[in-house]
Amino acid sequence: MAAQTAPIGVIGGSGFYSLLEDPAEHVVETPYGAPSDPVTVGSLAGRPVAFVPRHGTGHRFAPHLVPYRANLWALRSLGVRQVVSLSAVGSLTTALPTGTLVVPDQVVDRTAGRPHTFFDAATGVGHAGFADPYCPRGRAAALAAGVTAHDGGTLVVVNGPRFSSRAESLEFQSHGWSIIGMTAMPEAGLARELALCYTTLALVTDLDAGVAAGEGVTHAEVLEAFAANLPRLRDLLVDTLGRLPDEQDDCPCGDTSGYPASHVLP
Ligand code: ADE
Repeated sequence: MAAQTAPIGVIGGSGFYSLLEDPAEHVVETPYGAPSDPVTVGSLAGRPVAFVPRHGTGHRFAPHLVPYRANLWALRSLGVRQVVSLSAVGSLTTALPTGTLVVPDQVVDRTAGRPHTFFDAATGVGHAGFADPYCPRGRAAALAAGVTAHDGGTLVVVNGPRFSSRAESLEFQSHGWSIIGMTAMPEAGLARELALCYTTLALVTDLDAGVAAGEGVTHAEVLEAFAANLPRLRDLLVDTLGRLPDEQDDCPCGDTSGYPASHVLP
């Protein structure tokens, strides 16, 4: 097994590689195969950080094909206990326009067919508590940062890789959900099964279909808005990392008491 090297993990776009000081690549194999890419361990905001690009270099993995289990297992095997996940999202309300940074506090899973649990015949049955999917300490760190971010909101996760129809989007809006993405699930649920703290920093890249009149969402629009707002997301990330607690300590996210003894964490 790889050495225990970094207590904080970041999952995000490959544009974040360049942020790490003294980067070192760790090739990690997991019982779930290889992560999206080798994990890069370096330092950011003065903290040792392990970074994995969710979609791999060259954006090889579409949202439904990302090896979520391997990514989280690899991070934990490198000593990670707190994960910060970066995400481009659509907005389901004009109150959260393009460019808004959001720290969601709830998630709705509308994905299907993705490997979504570590529990199987070998580990025995475990039922993760998921009432509050996001880490309270991670969210507090992000909201205390010197970069304005919207506090809370429900992130609905669709399977993709296509965007939603207007009718689908209107349904999500009718529930009062605020943002929409394709990758937060099963990632958040798997993080909980590995007793990891998990915090999402989301960047609104578009108004979803049906929120505003127009042609609907295009990938080009998402990429352009992401690039334009990347510096603010980066600043929020760095400031948040600097404010995370040193240890996971007694954070409720780390509670494994409900899991079977045969669910052995790396
Ligand atoms: N990621 C960025 N924008 C999105 C949208 N409108 N729907 C789903 N995922 C997204």
